[in-house]
Amino acid sequence: MLTSELDEIAKEIKKCRKCKLWLTKQNYVPGEGNCKALIVFVGEAPGREEDIHGRPFVGNAGKLLTEMISRKLNLSRKDVFITNILKCRPPNNRDPLEEEIKACKPYLIRQLKSIRPKAVVCLGRHSASLIFSFFGLEFNGISKERGKIYEVEVEWGKMKVIAVYHPAAALYKPPLREVLEKDFEKIGSILKKRRTL
Ligand code: URA
Repeated sequence: MLTSELDEIAKEIKKCRKCKLWLTKQNYVPGEGNCKALIVFVGEAPGREEDIHGRPFVGNAGKLLTEMISRKLNLSRKDVFITNILKCRPPNNRDPLEEEIKACKPYLIRQLKSIRPKAVVCLGRHSASLIFSFFGLEFNGISKERGKIYEVEVEWGKMKVIAVYHPAAALYKPPLREVLEKDFEKIGSILKKRRTL
C-alpha cells in the first residue's frame, strides 16, 4: 500500500535516536492534521499530555489553540497541520537544547516540503527563531515579531510566515491572550481576503 510522504516521515520519527530525548519520552509526537493544509502551526515541543497521547497540542495550551483555530479562523484541527520543532518531550518541559533543535529540524522541514502550505504560524519564540532563520528572515524576539506577516519564496511558490505568542504563554499571562486573539484575527482576515491565502 502506498503511504503518504507525511506517514513515511512519521514512521522515521518513531524510530528516531538522533538526540537523547528518545530515552526519556513516553511517545513520539510527529504532528497531525491535513496533509494538504494551507496553514501549518509549529509549536515548541510536546508537553506532558502530548507525551502521554502521542498527539500535539492536546493539553491546556492545545485547547486554547484549538479554540482559536475554530473561533478566529473558522477551521477545525482537521483542516490544518499541527506539529512542533521537537517531536519528543524534553524532561520537565525544559527549553529545547540547540543540539535537539538541530537534530530534529530536518523532520520539520520535510513535513513543510511535503505539505507545501501557504502559511506557517510559529507558536512562540523557539519555533519562530528556527523558522525565521531557516527561511532567511531576521528574528528580533517574539514581542517585536509577533503579528507581523512576512512572505518568503519557497520551492512551491510564496508562503507567509507569522509568529504569535505561544498559547501556553497566553494562559500564564492573561494580557498576552488579548494579543494572541488579535493576531489570530489578523491571520483570519488574510484567509478571508484571499480564500486560498
Ligand atoms: N506546547 C507545545 O509547544 N507543543 C505542544 O504540542 C504542546 C504544548
